[in-house]
Amino acid sequence: MENGASSSNGEMLRGFWYPAILGREVGRRRLRQAMLLGESLVIGRDAHGRPFALRDACPHRGMPLSYGRLDGDTLECPYHGWRFHVHSGQCREIPSWIPGDKLKVDRIYAGQYLCEQQDGYIWVYVPEGAKRGEPVPPAPCLPIFSERYRLTHLSASLPVNVDHGIIGLMDPAHGPFVHQAWWWRSRRSIQQKEKVFEPIPNGFRIRAHAPSANSGAYKLLGVYGQPITTTIEFVLPNMRFEQIHCGDKWFSSRATVTPIDSANCRIDFCAAWNVFRRVPFMVSIFGIFARAFIGQDQRTMQMQARGLKTDPRLMLIDDADRPAKWYFDLKQAHLEAQRSGQPMKHPIPGPVTLRWRS
Ligand code: FES
Ligand SMILES: [Fe+2]
Repeated sequence: MENGASSSNGEMLRGFWYPAILGREVGRRRLRQAMLLGESLVIGRDAHGRPFALRDACPHRGMPLSYGRLDGDTLECPYHGWRFHVHSGQCREIPSWIPGDKLKVDRIYAGQYLCEQQDGYIWVYVPEGAKRGEPVPPAPCLPIFSERYRLTHLSASLPVNVDHGIIGLMDPAHGPFVHQAWWWRSRRSIQQKEKVFEPIPNGFRIRAHAPSANSGAYKLLGVYGQPITTTIEFVLPNMRFEQIHCGDKWFSSRATVTPIDSANCRIDFCAAWNVFRRVPFMVSIFGIFARAFIGQDQRTMQMQARGLKTDPRLMLIDDADRPAKWYFDLKQAHLEAQRSGQPMKHPIPGPVTLRWRS
């Protein structure tokens, strides 16, 4: 990308957790395929329902293990029947093996990934290539603020590199053009915005503020007659958190843009709330609006992908594209820290006020 130090080579960041698939899509007996950062995975559950993720290629001759047969804690390859422990990936049996054979069966491993179920997703940790065995933080968790709440999930595939998916997610200027709708906003509603951004570990935050007066959906919360505040955060590698608080009512969402391969990504949106909990069908109603909203981003990126095919020169302008520049800076700083083994140097020195019209 042109203009300024920020650039994109579309690198996909390793050493992070990514949501691979919705937990409810993985039954006890059903093996599922998933792809993260260009790596094929087979995902399933052991006899106790605990999820596992293995590389979807048998270490013998590359047969996808997802065509295999799950038997309690082992997965059998359909080609020559080698069996692998689903959590460690260790080979437990080679049917053609003859006692006394030199081959050490237990030294053979199918590639294995750390895997956790959280917020309805099966998360997979994609290690930094060389450093297997690095300390791994827990999988990300959606902030929740009361015991009872509703939760919903939506996703959409985007035919662009993860960088375009992410900067699209953090882009404040496309709203009035892409998300025109009577219930959200119109092109005529453009006005000047001014927000304070501040650095947080691995990302940045828009300081708690009253939501834009021109966002119709927020106006609904006015029925509670309490001040409304909203906070938006971006955290590497790919997460945008948004929280809205209004007295003891809250709404919390997380959108992640996960690299599938170098030319495709997927947005996974997960939201929890205790507002309008008594309104019947609230999850379905919210789903209809959120799907329409994400569908607008999806269609936009499908069109953008056609433009990007010819590899045009691109620009990032101030201040509207500053969050995108910061994303690239954070990414570079993270990669530099990985290379050098030193702590990451945060590219945003302190609070900054950004101004734009949207
Ligand atoms: S390819 Fe899997 S056992 Fe041979
Ligand atoms: Fe959008």
